[in-house]
Amino acid sequence: MLKGGKVGLRARHEDDIPVLRAELYDDPVNGSRAEARPWRPITPGTKDPRLVVDDTVDSVVPFSVVDLDSGELVGTATLWGIDSHHRSAHIGLGLLPSSRGKGYGTDVVAVLCHYGFVVRGLQRLQIETLADNHAMLRAAENNGFVREGVLRSSAWVLGEFLDEVILGLLVQEWKDRA
Ligand SMILES: CC(C)(COP(=O)(O)OP(=O)(O)OC[C@H]1O[C@@H](n2cnc3c(N)ncnc32)[C@H](O)[C@@H]1OP(=O)(O)O)[C@@H](O)C(=O)NCCC(=O)NCCS
Repeated sequence: MLKGGKVGLRARHEDDIPVLRAELYDDPVNGSRAEARPWRPITPGTKDPRLVVDDTVDSVVPFSVVDLDSGELVGTATLWGIDSHHRSAHIGLGLLPSSRGKGYGTDVVAVLCHYGFVVRGLQRLQIETLADNHAMLRAAENNGFVREGVLRSSAWVLGEFLDEVILGLLVQEWKDRA
C-alpha cells in the first residue's frame, strides 16, 4: 500500500465494488461532472474498468483509497494515460460524498505524485478538471500543479458547455518543493 498523511492507496478489493458503484458511479451529477463520457447506469456484475481492474493493461493503474487510521474506503484514485515514451501520465480521483472536503483529495494527489515520479520515473503529470471544480483545482495547486490552459466550452455537462482547466506538474518542480 502507498501511504500519505491521511490516506492509503491500495489494490481494488471485491468489497469495494458495490460501494463505489452505488456512491460514486451511480450518481448522474458526479458521473457527468467527473467523466469525459455521458453518464449511464452500471449493471450489477459489470466488468466496467472503473470498478473491475484488469492488471494486464499497462497504461492505467487504479487504486482504492482508504482512510489510514480506520482502513475505511473513501474513494478511488487512478494514474492513467501512462506514456512511457514521453514519461507522462494523467491523474484522476473521486471521493465518496461523505469523504469530501476533509483534506483527503489533497493527500491523494500527493501520493499519486510520489507514485508517478518516484515509483514510475515519470517526468510530467497532468490533471484535467472543470473550471468550476474548485476543490479539485485547490487539491492540485496544493501539490504544486500550475494552471497551463483553459479549454473553452469543451465539456458538455448536464445541459451546458463548461470550460476545462489543464494543470501540469514537472518532476523537477515537485522535487524543488521537498
Ligand atoms: C475534487 C475532490 C477529489 C477534492 O478532494 P477533497 O478531499 O474534497 O478536497 P480537500 O479537502 O483536499 O480540499 C482541497 C481544497 O479545496 C477546498 N474545497 C473543498 N471542497 C470545496 C468545495 N466544495 N468548494 C470550494 N472549495 C472546496 C478546500 O478548502 C481546500 O482548499 P485549501 O487547500 O485552499 O484550504 C473531491 O471533492 C471529489 O471527489 N469530488 C467529486 C469528484 C471529482 O470532482 N473528481 C475530480 C474530477 S477531475
